[in-house]
Amino acid sequence: MSILEGKGVTKYFGGLAAVSNVDFSVEKGEAFGLIGPNGAGKTTLFNLISAAYPVKSGIIRFKDKDITGLKPYKICRMGVARTFQIVKIFPDLPVFSNVLLGLHFGHSSGMSSAEKASLALEYLDFVGLTQVKMAPAKDLTLANQKRLEVARALATGPELLLLDEIMAGLNPTEVSQAMELVNRIREKGITIIMIEHVMKAIMNICQRIMVLHHGEKIAEGSPREIANSEKVIKVYLGEKAHATC
Ligand SMILES: Nc1ncnc2c1ncn2[C@@H]1O[C@H](COP(=O)(O)OP(=O)(O)OP(=O)(O)O)[C@@H](O)[C@H]1O
Ligand SMILES: [Mg+2]
Repeated sequence: MSILEGKGVTKYFGGLAAVSNVDFSVEKGEAFGLIGPNGAGKTTLFNLISAAYPVKSGIIRFKDKDITGLKPYKICRMGVARTFQIVKIFPDLPVFSNVLLGLHFGHSSGMSSAEKASLALEYLDFVGLTQVKMAPAKDLTLANQKRLEVARALATGPELLLLDEIMAGLNPTEVSQAMELVNRIREKGITIIMIEHVMKAIMNICQRIMVLHHGEKIAEGSPREIANSEKVIKVYLGEKAHATC
């Protein structure tokens, strides 16, 4: 069953078609990869799904409901959460408060303050930040700031989580830890769309991958199909990555 569907999704910045007539369908419970060269339109597509930007044309449906044109907070409360390519934490607030904000913002309106606080601690534990829970968010390492963004997004109670390059800038050990975290999120039944340039992660975690290039979808398929696609190798993966996939 499809949880998220896009038809003809298009976004222009001036004369530039950042996302051009893209169709996609993400199945409930899957991990769906979104890859492509720099400037391909990946983050813009997340911005359209989460309504940070309005679409020029096309339609986006979440759980069969048309969410095109809804306000971002409504989409979040319906069950779509995201992280940001460049982390957008509240730097001076404690780590714990950053997560609590996710609970206040998301669809947890029936909960008491104590219940929200207890749940925030659970999310911190889930992403491995319990030990730094009272530190100002700005004092965390990049890897931990990315984990904090994941925790805050999870705290809104999503059924669909959009992860924008949560592994960028991490060392190999941190990448392995982030991969393990993404797998545990999926085990909770949360559907994931992940943008990543770290091919090891995309190829290992995702069941299906969509490739964008100059705003257009140029390929979609299983990791094996994508790794062997001549078009994708030519514009993005290169022969070296192809050999190691
Ligand atoms: N707010 C904006 N205003 C104008 N142009 C933009 C804006 N956001 C993105 N673009 C342009 O749209 C195109 C797609 O950008 P986008 O950030 O979606 O690419 P991306 O695939 O996420 O790339 P990367 O892998 O580098 O993150 C690029 O040409 C970019 O310069
Ligand atoms: Mg991007």
